Amino acid sequence: MSAPRTHVVPTGALSQQAADWMADALQTTLAAQPRASLALSGGSTPGPAYRALATRVLPWERVDIYFVDERFVPPDHAESNYRLVEDTLLRPLQLAPSQVFRMEGEREDRDDAARDYAARLPAVLDVVLLGMGDDGHTASLFPGHAALEEHEQRVLAVVGPKPPPWRLTLTLPVLQAARQVLTLVSGAGKRDTVRRALAGDSSLPVARVTNTEWMLDPAAAGR
Ligand code: 6PG
Repeated sequence: MSAPRTHVVPTGALSQQAADWMADALQTTLAAQPRASLALSGGSTPGPAYRALATRVLPWERVDIYFVDERFVPPDHAESNYRLVEDTLLRPLQLAPSQVFRMEGEREDRDDAARDYAARLPAVLDVVLLGMGDDGHTASLFPGHAALEEHEQRVLAVVGPKPPPWRLTLTLPVLQAARQVLTLVSGAGKRDTVRRALAGDSSLPVARVTNTEWMLDPAAAGR
């Protein structure tokens, strides 16, 4: 297997470059088809990249927003990935509700929420932004978890070690089938996990997404 394509970017430019990468990926998609799907992650790293993306000139009315994962909290909760994306991207761009496909973290029946989201997902996602946790998780696919072996369901409700514990997550077949995927990681704390993932250590969920490009700051890249 060839080494994943890796962009190492100065820390201060990481968000802008991640926004450029997403904008380019959307443009490429929209040059070839009427609409583009963009699936986004939560966590602390991507917010500034979403804010930067919101300033890019694109035919936004042709872009549909999806979620890579969500915490089981209401959409206005501080830990909601929807809220992060709403604050940083949806509201600045004033995207129409019909363009936004939210995972419903407020639902009581978690398995139903997963099934319903799977039914709303497009057959193939065009552009996906992933993050990576210190333990090598991506989306809400955690090391050693049975969800990593899921081949049928496209969305699962899972319990992870990172609070809030209950999550909805896309599964590996969905991520692996996506057309353009970027994993955005910063900070020295993730350096060793990045090194293992880039070396193909498949005990790390993020390393199982073999179709991703990586964008790292120098600290995460070990430089
Ligand atoms: C989430 C995520 C998750 C995240 C990583 C990295 O909702 O928590 O989508 O996979 O991308 O945990 O998070 P940080 O950017 O906070 O390190």
